[in-house]
Amino acid sequence: MRSSVDWAQTERHEMTLRIGLLGCGRIGQVHARSITATTGVTLTAVADALPEAAGALAQATGAETRDTAAILTAKDIDAVLIATPTDSHFDQIIAAAQNGKAIFCEKPVDMSVDNIRRLIDVVGRAGVPFLTGFNRRFDPSFAALRARLRGGAIGAVELAIITSRDPAPPPISYIERSGGLFRDMMIHDFDMARFLMGEEFVRLHAVGSALVDPEIGAAGDVDTAAVTLTTATGRICQISNSRRAAYGYDQRIEVHGALGMLRAENQLETTVELATDAGFARDPAQHFFLERYAAAYLAEMRAFVAAVTTGTPPDPDIEDGLRAQILADAATRSRETGQPVDLPPA
Ligand SMILES: NC(=O)c1ccc[n+]([C@@H]2O[C@H](COP(=O)([O-])OP(=O)(O)OC[C@H]3O[C@@H](n4cnc5c(N)ncnc54)[C@H](O)[C@@H]3O)[C@@H](O)[C@H]2O)c1
Repeated sequence: MRSSVDWAQTERHEMTLRIGLLGCGRIGQVHARSITATTGVTLTAVADALPEAAGALAQATGAETRDTAAILTAKDIDAVLIATPTDSHFDQIIAAAQNGKAIFCEKPVDMSVDNIRRLIDVVGRAGVPFLTGFNRRFDPSFAALRARLRGGAIGAVELAIITSRDPAPPPISYIERSGGLFRDMMIHDFDMARFLMGEEFVRLHAVGSALVDPEIGAAGDVDTAAVTLTTATGRICQISNSRRAAYGYDQRIEVHGALGMLRAENQLETTVELATDAGFARDPAQHFFLERYAAAYLAEMRAFVAAVTTGTPPDPDIEDGLRAQILADAATRSRETGQPVDLPPA
């Protein structure tokens, strides 16, 4: 079924976008707060497999509770925000697209590249807007770095270095269902690498070890990894991930070019610095993604609402979800085989 809504209609910017939220867990609650802090959008209904989770979020936001199927087919809902576990996304995206809803889907879109290709077809045929939740593109510092890069501040990119380390590993039960570090964690960095580079990658080489927790290794995964990516013109990106950082959530970017270097540093808990005869001491980095990317989640929501209500295609879209997943799959294979992997053309 093709969308019954003309998303390109220019007068849509005057309407209030009515959103139905699927999944009221960690990230669903963040998005619900962003919706209530944004004009031109309302959280009409929420759904969760656990009625108490939906009930609590409904009470906090003033939204109704409905079941997932009711939200996906509702006439009074324009857009669906999918914040359920990744293995639920596929069916929900198909139902949302077939019912003409604009879609904001959390990353990863799906663990299978073949499934994402099927979804691209369904979403394309339905003609509905689709945003993939790569929130880091909306971080004010990373977005400003990229704007200066595109503005020519350092000339063309020669080297990019992306550092991403979690404060502590998740439970083994999470690791076992995560799809592995490259698909679960580094997926954000693959998207950031593409966002910065402005050219697709043609080759990738990944290495990884279980140095933080041997149980992660026993579960067949790694907790420490590095990936080198190259473009057809020889530009290089290095990504470094760890599931542990003693000093908090470590999120840094550095890009080097002919005219200089652009760098975005960690955000610390406060800006206070103690100087004594022992030296200089500053705070730990903000603890984890909910704190570090609070501004990014809000900006992401505002970008989605602005795109849908003005008929502009959301960015990053489902193709970006596919490209990042292709890189994550290739890194998983490269780490397992010890060999570099040539990447398919975009
Ligand atoms: N962009 C980010 O920074 C970010 C951060 C965390 C999670 N995520 C992604 O968001 C998604 C959810 O992750 P989370 O950490 O919030 O998980 P979570 O387990 O905290 O929450 C998921 C919620 O969905 C509910 N649920 C399960 N199946 C459902 C269904 N069929 N219909 C309705 N509700 C259902 C669960 O009961 C749970 O409350 C995942 O795809 C994850 O990868 C993205």
